[in-house]
Amino acid sequence: MALETFHDELAATAAALAAPGRGLLAADESTGTIGKRFEAIGLENSEANRRAYRSLLATTEGLSDHISGVILYEETLFQDSTAAVGGAPIVELFLQQGIVPGIKVDQGVEPLVGGVSGESWCTGLKGLAERAARYYAQGARFAKWRAVLQISASGCPSELAVRENAWGLARYARTVQEQGLVPIVEPEILMDGDHDITTTASVQEWVLRTTYEALALNGVFLEGSLLKPSMTCAGAACPQQPSVAEVGDFTLRTLSRTVPAAVPAILFLSGGLSEEDASLCLNAINAAAAGDAPWHLGFSFGRALQHSCLQHWRGQDLNAGQQALLARARANGAASRGLYEPGSEPSDDASLFVANYAY
Ligand code: 13P
Repeated sequence: MALETFHDELAATAAALAAPGRGLLAADESTGTIGKRFEAIGLENSEANRRAYRSLLATTEGLSDHISGVILYEETLFQDSTAAVGGAPIVELFLQQGIVPGIKVDQGVEPLVGGVSGESWCTGLKGLAERAARYYAQGARFAKWRAVLQISASGCPSELAVRENAWGLARYARTVQEQGLVPIVEPEILMDGDHDITTTASVQEWVLRTTYEALALNGVFLEGSLLKPSMTCAGAACPQQPSVAEVGDFTLRTLSRTVPAAVPAILFLSGGLSEEDASLCLNAINAAAAGDAPWHLGFSFGRALQHSCLQHWRGQDLNAGQQALLARARANGAASRGLYEPGSEPSDDASLFVANYAY
């Protein structure tokens, strides 16, 4: 079907996801990645445990007060909940709460031949239209594709990596829009490295400018798309770490210079920030914007929403896991309005940074 036939629906979905005070729960860990999370709490990476964990997320009462959408991995989109919570399809449980289901559609990164060592490109375009149609029929209304870039003294990101990843994001975005799914455009810049915040800002401006050029060339309908960037931070090993307020100011400046006002929302990834830091930085970005930004400035956190939840659940205590999830959802809902009081919600203050993170 022609893209124009989906314009109204795409814009409506994007607007629902961009609701004030709400954001996305990124629960789309691949089977390998959720295995690492389970290993940290001594749990086997079995289908039954993945089902139990995602059932916990979907039955957290009150989650929709702060969460507008959830990004799922393919297994979860087609999975039933546990008998203990009634056995309904997990996707139905989210829908009943008024949480829009989304789906990770990229198929992971591969080494970028011709790039600098360690660089990657993102795969998943082949057969994407057919998969997107199947996901739509199953209830998904938005999609995610994560491209990964890094900053290094050895020349990362190369121009090749910036252009290839921008192009992949644009081809993906156009393809899923034609099937009725709102694309989340995610050009993540890893926190690995000792570069300062001004270096991150100039690289991120380059990456975002190139990405929006590619989206324009591909005729992507911006009003029916969302951006999921990293916050403009210094490298994790940089000796001069910026203040939270500086992260807010730099992030807003980077986005103001590069992201068209037609994009309804910018939903940040947490990228390895601790739960509390992710909330504080999101709050600072909204404080810097002072309600004047053209886009909703919200969250699409994975680690920074689920870390305490996993720690409290440990495969056993459903209620403790759900309360921990709710606490961080509340914190980030407040931060997306610029109203978060530091430390006012419990969190596990562990650093969630993992070098060369693979999702
Ligand atoms: P983090 O918030 O853990 O960075 O993950 C978000 C995500 O969806 C990465 O693709």
